Amino acid sequence: MGGPSEHSPLGIFDSGVGGLTVLQALRHRLPHESFLYLGDTARLPYGTKSAGTVTRYALNASRHLVDKGVKLLVVACNTASAFALDEVAAAVDVPVIGVVEPGVEAALVTSANRLGVIGTEGTVRSGAYQRAIADRAPSIDVRATACPLFVPLAEEGWGDHEVTDTVARHYLEDILAWGAQALILGCTHYPLLTPSLSRVVGPDVRLVDSASAVAEAVISRHRDLLKADDGGKVTIQLTDASERFRRITKAILGEEFEELEVVDL
Ligand code: DGL
Repeated sequence: MGGPSEHSPLGIFDSGVGGLTVLQALRHRLPHESFLYLGDTARLPYGTKSAGTVTRYALNASRHLVDKGVKLLVVACNTASAFALDEVAAAVDVPVIGVVEPGVEAALVTSANRLGVIGTEGTVRSGAYQRAIADRAPSIDVRATACPLFVPLAEEGWGDHEVTDTVARHYLEDILAWGAQALILGCTHYPLLTPSLSRVVGPDVRLVDSASAVAEAVISRHRDLLKADDGGKVTIQLTDASERFRRITKAILGEEFEELEVVDL
C-alpha cells in the first residue's frame, strides 16, 4: 500500500464530539474533500487530565488516523493541541495542524489589546495560548481562565440557556471586569455556547471561534494537498458510541449520522 495521495481524506482528531465544530467549518470551506473524524469518546474528557496522559492519548489517536491513510491531520482538540502538538507532529509523517495557532491568528485580527482566553483546565494550565500570543504580539495583555462546566453544558445542548448564562457570568466576571476586548473560545465545545456567551459578554467583546480559522489555515498552508473536485465523504469514528454521543453528534452536525464506526485504539 502506498502513502496518502491527494484523494486521501483529511484526518480530524478530538477527545470527543466537540471537534465536529471544526469538521463542520472544514466541510463548509472544502466541500469536495473527504474526512475521517476520530472522537476519543471512551477517554473523554482530556481537559482535566495530566499533560503526560493527554500526550499518550493524542499520539495513540493520531497514529490510528495516519494508519488509516489520512493525508493531513487536524488536532481539533484544544487540550491535545496545547499539550501534545509537537510530539504528534514529530511522530507522524503527514502535516499536522493544531487549533491554538489559527485561533491566535484570528484573535489578532480583532486588534484587541486585552485578550481573554477560555478553555479547559489543561489548556489554560499549559500556557500554550499565552505563549503563542506573547510570541506574535508581546504588547497584548492576556488573561486566561478555565471554564470546566462549559463542556457538560454544551453537551447538554444548553448553548442558549439561563443556567449557562449564570455559569458564564461567574467564570467571566474577572476577565470582563479587567476589560477584555476579545475572547478566544479555546475549546472545541465553546462555539456551541455562543448564544449564551454573546449575551453575557455583551456587544463590545468579540468572540473568536477558532474552527473557521483552522479551516483557513489548512487551505492557506496546504493548498497543494487539496484536490479540486471529488469525494465529499465523511466518516466518523468514535471510541465509544453511546446514545449520548449519537445525540450530540446529531445536534452539532444538524443531521442524523447513521454510519458511526466504533473503534478500539
Ligand atoms: N476537546 C476538548 C478541548 O477542546 C474539550 C473536551 C475535553 O475536555 O476533552 O479542549
